[in-house]
Amino acid sequence: MVFRLVLLPGDGIGPEVVGAAVTVLQRIERRFGHQFDTQSFPIGGVALASGDGPLPAATREACLAADAVLLGAVGDARFDSGPRDRKPETGLLELRRALGVYANLRPARVWPSLEDSGPLKRERVAATDILIVRELTGGLYFGEPRGIAADGRSAVNTLQYCVEEIERVADVAFDAARKRRARVTSVDKANVLETSQLWRTTVSRLALRYPDVKLDHMYVDACAMALALDPPRFDVIVTENLFGDILSDEAGAIVGSLGLLPSASIGGGHGLYEPVHGSAPDLAGRDVANPIGTILSAAMLLRHSLRLEDEARAIERAVGEILAEGHRTADLRSDPSVPVIGCAEMAHLIAERC
Ligand code: NAD
Ligand code: IPM
Ligand code: MN
Repeated sequence: MVFRLVLLPGDGIGPEVVGAAVTVLQRIERRFGHQFDTQSFPIGGVALASGDGPLPAATREACLAADAVLLGAVGDARFDSGPRDRKPETGLLELRRALGVYANLRPARVWPSLEDSGPLKRERVAATDILIVRELTGGLYFGEPRGIAADGRSAVNTLQYCVEEIERVADVAFDAARKRRARVTSVDKANVLETSQLWRTTVSRLALRYPDVKLDHMYVDACAMALALDPPRFDVIVTENLFGDILSDEAGAIVGSLGLLPSASIGGGHGLYEPVHGSAPDLAGRDVANPIGTILSAAMLLRHSLRLEDEARAIERAVGEILAEGHRTADLRSDPSVPVIGCAEMAHLIAERC
């Protein structure tokens, strides 16, 4: 089969981790007899630096025409103080909106060989296997009105959700739970926010269609603590855009490194795949970034957009084996006497094992 993939390497460590995922995808092509036609396009800071907007029209059109999109990261401090339409992050948000990818799947599991890699005790984190389903095209990120007042002394953002937006992402969460341990925790701030009250009643009503799935509700502050104290208690978490952004970085600390976490943004008929982490300017250009989050994002791309389940599993199995053999990028090292390998070498080891 021939598939058209768009690569958006982006900023900072983006090109290194996307390069690593391409190494693995090339191995999958050879082993399973597929053809992945890849084309790279600029987004974020690299697009801005060349005089374009953060999501050039050619990039947007290519993504809309592709079978799937793999993105590295956007973010460049040179544009941090600029207006919103000149920020790298705006390019990514526009792309999510253009593709209509309202559900962002962020799986976070503790690999058995990494139970001692994170800051939390092995007894607390062992067997953690969570799927955060983050609403991705609504909430504070997109609500209008928004902006900074002309006098620079006040600013506004709008948090709005409608029933349809909540139902469609909750459907994704309930469906996912059926293939897992059949538990959904809906996370909100319904003790304070009206949008959260609507979120809670809507999810509860929808749950009646899924009698085989157990639903509970948590406030986001309590959830943040419970995630650190007892992460194995969670199966699927469904939550709004901003809460999902924050809780998924916390999940990075629980599993040992943000660099391990992949994501799949789905729902609109297109698929956008990206690691949870950002452009990590402190690591860029040094071949030290952990590529596993992006490599696992490529596996999710094969599963969700190309329907290549065996190929996706081959990558996930290879990642588990390479970690079990003790290979570590710098972020995963818990014992200073263990030598570390770089981004490219980790990718080669995983590719050879696929
Ligand atoms: P970040 O995710 O880039 O980095 C946070 C921490 O995690 C840093 O210590 C970094 O070194 C580490 N880290 C991140 N990825 C890693 C990897 N693959 N391997 C090893 N360590 C890794 O977040 P930040 O520093 O808050 O943001 C930097 C820039 O990235 C900002 O401009 C921000 O807007 C942007 N950002 C983009 C995305 C995205 O493109 N999806 C996500 C988050 C942040
Ligand atoms: C993420 C990032 C983005 C977000 C930023 C870069 C717009 O933090 O993908 O988690 O907040 O969604
Ligand atoms: Mn984030």
